[in-house]
This record gives sequence, C-alpha cells and structure tokens, in this order.
Amino acid sequence: MVTNIKPLGKNSGLEVSGVDLDMPLDADTRKALQDAFLAAGILLFRRAASGPEAHLSLSRCFGELQRHPVRENWAAGYPELVDISYRPAIQGESSVALYEVDGKRRGGWLPWHSDLRYMSKINRGGILRSITRPSEGGRTGFIDQIAAYTTLPESLRRQIENLHVVYQLRSDFTQEKFGKPESLRLVTNAAALSAMAARIDRDFPPVVHPMVYVQPETGRKVLNVSPTSAVGIHEMPNSEGDALLEEVLSYALNPALAYYHDWQENDLVLWDNWRTLHCAEGVPEDCVREMQRTTIAGDYALGHRLSEFETRG
Ligand SMILES: [Fe+2]
Repeated sequence: MVTNIKPLGKNSGLEVSGVDLDMPLDADTRKALQDAFLAAGILLFRRAASGPEAHLSLSRCFGELQRHPVRENWAAGYPELVDISYRPAIQGESSVALYEVDGKRRGGWLPWHSDLRYMSKINRGGILRSITRPSEGGRTGFIDQIAAYTTLPESLRRQIENLHVVYQLRSDFTQEKFGKPESLRLVTNAAALSAMAARIDRDFPPVVHPMVYVQPETGRKVLNVSPTSAVGIHEMPNSEGDALLEEVLSYALNPALAYYHDWQENDLVLWDNWRTLHCAEGVPEDCVREMQRTTIAGDYALGHRLSEFETRG
C-alpha cells in the first residue's frame, strides 16, 4: 500500500513514499497512484528505483509503454527506455546536445517543452529516473498547465478558445521561433538529431494542436501550448498571431508556477505530458549526468497532421 502522499512544491505535484517498486503493485496501490497522478499531474518517488526493471514496472502502472520514434535514443538492451545521459568523454557521440546558454556551456540543456509535441499523437506521460547525479546543476523544471490556465485573463481565454498552434520538429533548439534564450548557441548536437537532420522535414511533417483542451475526467481546462516546436497560430499566420502566442506563452511559462526538481540518485519523477511543460537546465560541460526515461503511450485525439487538418477545413 501507499503509506504517504504529500505536496511536492508549493505550486504543483505530489511526493509519494512507502511503495516498494521491487514487488508487484497491488490493485489498491495502483488505484491510489493513478488517482494521485490524475489529481496532481506530477509525482515524485524519492530514491525509489533499484534499477531499470523497477522503472519499467512503475511506468506500466500508468499505461502501455511506447518506444521513442527516434530509435537512436533507445537505451542499450531496453528499447522502452530512452537514454538521455550526458557524458563529456564521448561528447561527439552523445545522445544529448551541448549548448551555450548565457555564456555557459550546458550538457543536456532543454528549453520548456512537452514531449513529442511535433507528432499528431502526443504520449500520455513519462517517468524520468536519475542514475548518476551530476556534481552540479541538472535540475528539471515542471509547470502545470491546468494551473497556468487559471491565471489567464478572461479576454485571453476567449481569444484562444478555438485556435490551434502549428508545430514542427527542428534539428536543434537554435532554430526555434519561440521560447529560446537570446544567447543560445549550439556547441555539439545530439548524435540522433545530427544523423536525421537531412530527413527531418520528410519524416516529421507539421502538425496542429488546439491551444486549450478539457481534461475529460475532471472538466478542468488545460493551456495546451509548447514554445518548443511551435511555428505559429494556424488561424493567424502573421505577426499579430505571433504576438498573441508570445503573450499566451508568458502565462504558460510563469516562473511563479514552476517546480524545479533537484535530483538524487534513483529518484523517479512521473509527469502528465498532456498538462505539463518541462525543461532541463543541463550540467556543466565536464559533468556526467546519467538519466533514462520511459514513454507512457496514449492519444488525446486532438492532434492532426497539418495537411489533414486543412483538408477537413
Ligand atoms: Fe522532455
């Protein structure tokens, strides 16, 4: 049984303790965890993972697992685990990139995003597991977009109610149009993204997602925008649309709503990818940070390929 669930940060999330992930989870425990996930969207299991099997077992409590569409990212021996480790010794072949942000080199830095936003089917969620904690940095930020929606002025809520954003994958974050720091510079790209740069437009055509959707189980509205991969508002492909998206993103990325997780080894953090933005602050260039992630499958059925969306009218 789950023995304790308590608030994680002052703004979002819950911390769960008392669950032995090396044992099969009983029905009551699974139900308690699923209820907590639906309520809060972010769950921390502090130092709870004994290894990849415990990581996979907990992940399956929240749905089927899917393999990442970029197979170069699979962890050796575990195709359902994505390796997002940063190791400076093999930097040129790293599965994550090295960027310079505000004049400092950061391995594994990621801007605010939701996973697979550039696909029409967005995964339900994921669980991150810390394997080797970096000696410095490496925090992961989360912002709950149900909370963010409640901060939108009524006029803005009305404006975006029926609008959609176009997204497309880019081969590195310096090419992003929204949400990147002015000072961002790419030092070394992730090996997988370098390898697929030439085929990225063919394999990942643009998609659209609504700016707002309703969480079906609770009726709560979600601010459904990701700065990363965003091209613009579909119904307003002009500077006015870009300005509106920038304004909405300022609410989605409100620093007062952010929770930053400072990792300990064997921590697991589960997040609801349909209502949470996350980012990685990265580690100094010479640090080692080893992490893996599962991808929990699902489809909220509101995403479309742009070509199909335009055909529908
Ligand atoms: Fe991510």
